[in-house]
Amino acid sequence: MARLDVLENFHGILFPGHLHTQESLQRALEFPFQDTDVLIVSYPKSGTTWMQEILTLITSKGDPYLSQTVPNWTRAPWLEQHYCAAVLEASSTTPRVITTHLPHHLLGPTLQGSKAKVIYVSRNPKDVVVSFYHFHKMAKFLPDAGSFPEFLNQFLEGTLTFGSWFDHIKDWTSQTAASDNMLHITYEEMSLDLPGTIKRVSSLLQCPLVEEEVNSCVKHCSFSNMKTNRMVNYTLIPEEIMDHSKGSFMRKGKIGDWKNMFTEEQNRYLRSVLKAKMQGCNLEFVWEEQDEEETQ
Ligand code: A3P
Repeated sequence: MARLDVLENFHGILFPGHLHTQESLQRALEFPFQDTDVLIVSYPKSGTTWMQEILTLITSKGDPYLSQTVPNWTRAPWLEQHYCAAVLEASSTTPRVITTHLPHHLLGPTLQGSKAKVIYVSRNPKDVVVSFYHFHKMAKFLPDAGSFPEFLNQFLEGTLTFGSWFDHIKDWTSQTAASDNMLHITYEEMSLDLPGTIKRVSSLLQCPLVEEEVNSCVKHCSFSNMKTNRMVNYTLIPEEIMDHSKGSFMRKGKIGDWKNMFTEEQNRYLRSVLKAKMQGCNLEFVWEEQDEEETQ
């Protein structure tokens, strides 16, 4: 399945035709969730792969065997991608870990009534857009990124593939706040307190870990270990699909890399769009204070 130049317009949102079809997207909306399922939800480049690794390690009690022998897309397939059903059928793992980038207005109704656990992963939008921009340069199944100012405008307008970051985070987090089965974890929290994050996730999963197991999880999902782990660094993907000479999936793994890309004007503009679009949203962003201080 190449379809590298195809984009699927599904309910007004563009999805890369490589791995997504109208049928696979529609099937996602009819997916029969089981109460034992664990669903990772994120906008792209927010730390999805990191959370997949954390979940594999927690459910393996810190043992890295699975994370070093099975690709992340088989351990935690994307619900909306065409191979998902086949992967889940072939797997006997409990809990099933499933990943999705779908917005809440599409997937929310499917989840309704299910006790599946949801982990929403978010990240500072400035770091998201920078990471996404670099990823567009290597991922041949994504449209040409163009210049950074053009790309940033598309991000702010919500016209990139996977739709609007603002709608995604607003709609999903309005749910996570109200449910015991849902957790909102930020990339920044993972960066600043990885052991704490692992404990929060293991508690949601009711999968208690002893200190030694937590330490092993921390070690194996560090940026340096994931960068060299072929099961998560995407070097298993052939050059025709990802041009590894143009960058690496495990690129920098840092908070605040946006400062190397954004002009002061772009920063001010994003902040004003953020303020307008997030009106009425009670989320407190861990990165906001830090950004504020640095731009004063
Ligand atoms: P950068 O491009 O800023 O480096 P996703 O998995 O949602 O596509 O997100 C990819 C981003 O998460 C990339 O960000 C990648 O480097 C970062 N990432 C993945 N694993 C990480 C880890 N263990 N520690 C820190 N960042 C990680």
